Amino acid sequence: MTDSIDKLAAQYFQLVELQQLDLPPGPVLIQPAVQTALYERMFNENAVFPVPPDRYRSRVLKQLISRIEESIINPEEDEINDDLMESWSTLVSQPKPSALQQAQQLSLVKYTAPTSSAGNCPKRTVTTSESRGVILYAGTTGNRTWEAALHLGSFLASEAGEALVRGKRVIELGAGTGFLSFLCARHLGVRSIVATDREPALVDNIRACVKHNLHGRESIPIYPAVWEWGTPLEKVGDLAGLGSDEGEEGTGLKFDVALGADLVYDTDLVPSLLSTVQDLFENYNIEEFITAVSLRNENTFRTFLNACETNSLAFEALPFESTPAEDQTGFFHSTSIPLRTYRISRSK
Ligand SMILES: C[S@@+](CC[C@H](N)C(=O)[O-])C[C@H]1O[C@@H](n2cnc3c(N)ncnc32)[C@H](O)[C@@H]1O
Repeated sequence: MTDSIDKLAAQYFQLVELQQLDLPPGPVLIQPAVQTALYERMFNENAVFPVPPDRYRSRVLKQLISRIEESIINPEEDEINDDLMESWSTLVSQPKPSALQQAQQLSLVKYTAPTSSAGNCPKRTVTTSESRGVILYAGTTGNRTWEAALHLGSFLASEAGEALVRGKRVIELGAGTGFLSFLCARHLGVRSIVATDREPALVDNIRACVKHNLHGRESIPIYPAVWEWGTPLEKVGDLAGLGSDEGEEGTGLKFDVALGADLVYDTDLVPSLLSTVQDLFENYNIEEFITAVSLRNENTFRTFLNACETNSLAFEALPFESTPAEDQTGFFHSTSIPLRTYRISRSK
């Protein structure tokens, strides 16, 4: 029972689409202890954080209540928890935003990492602020966390993945909501992570979300910065103090690993992305670039791999397969478009 409530709660705080929610079966939901747990863990506004948007909460609650109603065999004994019913009536009386307002609304989204093989570890969560329903808004695709980031996050949260970043100086390209950077900064023991994107609004959004990812710490080693591929990375703002105590030359900015998810979605972006990746190898010390791709279009991806070869960069696919959606225990995502992770390094 606890496992199914844990999974449903994790999906709910990630605002997973209703059709993909793994609702416990009726005979489980009818149990009073289960309904109390659902209320306390998902719908008690005074006890949960973040509180999902009203519209999403009311749709999930409606579905739960109908499933409980369908399972009532003896109306004298089986009943629906009063707190759940009260939450429902409060939610249905709220004014409804338009479909456009809903799509553009920024919401706090809490992602829970897949259950580790060690089993009883505390849950590792990452909170971002994003518009889940938006693909392209204000000129960028970075307002939501994409499947490739959730795929790469699932890999990095595994033992083999964590070994690639633990203790390292990491930089993320096209960080969007900052999901991967927060994961690295809070849970994977990186020495530092510079979360970059070309959109200043996205970088401000990442900065504003740091407080939601501290979980009892005073700070985490994340440094949000604006960086457009093909231009120099300036050591200003949050980066001003980074690396200066290491007596290094130039900007003093050095990294060990670069990360990036879903950056190869348009062939026009390939030349500037490639020049930045080369810049990172030549001038910032990185040894590898770990990138996850959504194989929406073979040609676009081929253009990227060909450009790597032309620029003396070697690539290898990492042996990490997506877990089928129905078996995922965290960082829930669709696998209907193939997802792959590559390690790019300098050719020997
Ligand atoms: C599809 S989104 C992926 C966001 C995030 N990595 C994820 O997977 O959720 C692509 C990101 O790359 C950023 N981007 C696109 N072109 C860029 C450029 N020339 N320089 C820097 N960032 C860029 C966008 O602003 C956006 O945040």
